[in-house]
Amino acid sequence: MQADIEMVKALLDGSKRVVVLTGAGVSAESGVPTFRGVDGLWKNYRAEDLARPDAFEAHPELVWEFYNWRRELVGDCQPNPAHYALVEMEKQISNFLLITQNVDGLHARAGSRKLIEMHGSLWQLKCTTCTHAREDFSELPPLPECPVCGHLLRPGVVWFGEPLIPGVLKVSIDQINKADVFLSIGTSSLVQPAASFYQLAKDHGAITVEINIEPTPNTGFMDFALHGKAGDILPELVTGLGEF
Ligand code: APR
Repeated sequence: MQADIEMVKALLDGSKRVVVLTGAGVSAESGVPTFRGVDGLWKNYRAEDLARPDAFEAHPELVWEFYNWRRELVGDCQPNPAHYALVEMEKQISNFLLITQNVDGLHARAGSRKLIEMHGSLWQLKCTTCTHAREDFSELPPLPECPVCGHLLRPGVVWFGEPLIPGVLKVSIDQINKADVFLSIGTSSLVQPAASFYQLAKDHGAITVEINIEPTPNTGFMDFALHGKAGDILPELVTGLGEF
């Protein structure tokens, strides 16, 4: 494993174009529950049962209660060494892109700027009726209303069954197609289209690397599978990067 870490470090050091995909595992060490881990349930609901347009339509107060709970929980969490290591990687690699499935905003809080939040953000609100949208970190009422038209606001996240934010997929794919190295970190690789990004990267000649505490359906297809916590492995990968 140490030999693999050294090899990935050397590859990163020689890379001009790196794309990183992250999932909930990257925030686990900050105290944010993962979706499919043992602590992933809220009041016995799975995220997939609540993070969907039909659930919001039928039970807006329940879905907002879930999101207000997540906003409060994440608001008390801090970025961890994995988030900061990716900020460092961004500084050292000339063409870098971080694509996250996480909606917790912790990459941005750590300082990542070349960042796509492909599933939106807990801190974004948008109107269910008009075009009003805003970033808002404050405590919200149980059913927040649009200040423009008075209709119900919803979380600015991409729910199951909804299309991605326009442009996000194109920019991601363009960068993945040009990457020398593609890293998939802390994601169960069960949700599309992110779960297939490694394949695109591989088809275009990139070296693929997975960092996870357990195997995923993609592990066997990776050039390197680094088994362990993102908060332990990523700082090792970026230490001395750019100094070879
Ligand atoms: N370091 C590395 N990996 C970890 C760590 C850690 N410290 N802790 C957990 N993991 C791994 C788990 O082994 C698992 O493979 O993180 C992954 C988390 O998987 P999920 O909970 O399924 O989260 P994610 O892959 O981000 O889910 C994708 O599904 O629910 C939707 O929209 C939601 O963005 C989310 C998407």
